[in-house]
Amino acid sequence: MSASILPALSLGAGGPLVGAQGLGCMGFSEFYGPTAPAEARETLQIALALGVTMFDTADLYGDGDNERFLGPFVRAHRDRVFLATKFGIVRRAGEKSWSEVRGDRAFVRQSVDANAALLEPVRDIAARRQITPAQVALAWVHQRSRVHGLTVIPIPGTRSPARLRQNVAAATLALPDSELAALEPLAARVAGARYPDMSSTATARE
Ligand SMILES: NC(=O)c1ccc[n+]([C@@H]2O[C@H](COP(=O)([O-])OP(=O)(O)OC[C@H]3O[C@@H](n4cnc5c(N)ncnc54)[C@H](OP(=O)(O)O)[C@@H]3O)[C@@H](O)[C@H]2O)c1
Repeated sequence: MSASILPALSLGAGGPLVGAQGLGCMGFSEFYGPTAPAEARETLQIALALGVTMFDTADLYGDGDNERFLGPFVRAHRDRVFLATKFGIVRRAGEKSWSEVRGDRAFVRQSVDANAALLEPVRDIAARRQITPAQVALAWVHQRSRVHGLTVIPIPGTRSPARLRQNVAAATLALPDSELAALEPLAARVAGARYPDMSSTATARE
């Protein structure tokens, strides 16, 4: 399945047009293992060539390294790049995360076993279509946004040109109703909280 050019969507009513999928850039600096800078730069270039225009970063990723890494790319393509960044998050020196994590073995084992079982329908669809489970997941997100009439622009992050192509290709993949029906109940069955309660953040924005 090859990646075609992404359609553009309006970011909010009357907002700027951006590619229907963005690129999360956090992994270029930390959290997911080492990054080869040349590969990361290639990933950025391919992303732009395939219609990805929104790039998500933050000043805290790599303590500023992420924004410094993106700087030359943004400067070279300022007219096409839509930059999403965040600032003001206080992170103490050497601290890797800023939220509480429940890491006891029993909780982790229970959640891993429960959630691994949920992957089976995703793997089945991926195997039938000869695509990856990650592509099935992304295609589902895009399709749900169309079903609900909401603009959702996912920002999957990758350091790899090959996985970038896969992720972009998934954005325009149509899943038939039978596959959507198999995927639909899975999210509600995920074991464990995926994020802390972010409602105070939303309230503060309003
Ligand atoms: N997680 C957070 O706390 C957080 C908070 C705020 C904002 N963000 C933003 O949101 C973006 C997305 O964050 P995320 O936490 O969802 O992580 P992510 O950046 O979407 O996922 C990164 C992981 O998924 C792997 N991956 C990507 N595409 C793949 C594919 N097609 N198949 C298999 N593996 C694949 C990446 O490996 P490779 O790099 O090796 O491909 C990496 O290990 C971030 O980059 C950041 O800009 C994240």
